[in-house]
Amino acid sequence: MDFLGFGLGLRAQHFSNILETRPDIDWFEVITEDYLVSGGRPLYYLNRIREFYPLVMHGVSLSIGSCDPINFDYLKKVKALASSIKPIWISDHLCWTGVNGLNLHDLLPLPYTEEALKHVVERVKRVQDFLGQQILLENVSSYIEYQVSKMKEWDFLTAIAEQADCFILLDINNIYVSAVNHHFDPLKYLNNIPIHRVQQFHLAGHKNFDNYIIDTHDAPIIESVWSLYAAAVRRFGKISTMIERDDNIPELPELLAELQQAKQIAKTVWKEENATIS
Ligand SMILES: [Fe+2]
Repeated sequence: MDFLGFGLGLRAQHFSNILETRPDIDWFEVITEDYLVSGGRPLYYLNRIREFYPLVMHGVSLSIGSCDPINFDYLKKVKALASSIKPIWISDHLCWTGVNGLNLHDLLPLPYTEEALKHVVERVKRVQDFLGQQILLENVSSYIEYQVSKMKEWDFLTAIAEQADCFILLDINNIYVSAVNHHFDPLKYLNNIPIHRVQQFHLAGHKNFDNYIIDTHDAPIIESVWSLYAAAVRRFGKISTMIERDDNIPELPELLAELQQAKQIAKTVWKEENATIS
């Protein structure tokens, strides 16, 4: 499995700075939907930046859990972009974003039932067949649960990955957010995800409203999420890690300092575990 090192989400505010200063970042994750066009400034910069950095594509529109038909027009564009920019991998979210053609513009959780499992597994297989490669699915943060759910989120995610033969993008912040909102132990989540399925970590900040948390991606990573990240590195080993900032985006040096912190935590854990660091 490829270990890419420590990356950042590529954001338009940083395009020219990245090209001018070539910061010490191992790779970038790009939001797929930002580049599904035939020209323009973002694509111009993306093509220049990819000369110097490995890329992965991260989508928000697959809606793998929806009951609407799979959107092959969208997937055709994703496939065309992938064949042009050659990402190391392609990911999206384990969620649904709408139904009956209505887009709710949110990454909504699924009910964790056998019926939903079968539905999503079949769709992931079709998507992977179409793209000609395995995809990664990310755990979303959630604020609601369904009374019909029969399994834990971590068991549902594991079953999807095993049965559809896809990989997992584990968002450490999302696990923390959902653990607080739904009162479960985030370590239990980590310990029930199979090591061989995890290919990438996300780290991000969030907003705390005392009795619930919202995954806003607009703030620095908090101490409890760093601790959970250390636990994740201890369990999963060398996993490509990146920091997601979608709003309130600071200058590059501030994100590089956070990335340095992630690297430091991982290296400390690897050292403890006697792993060799390349
Ligand atoms: Fe994420």
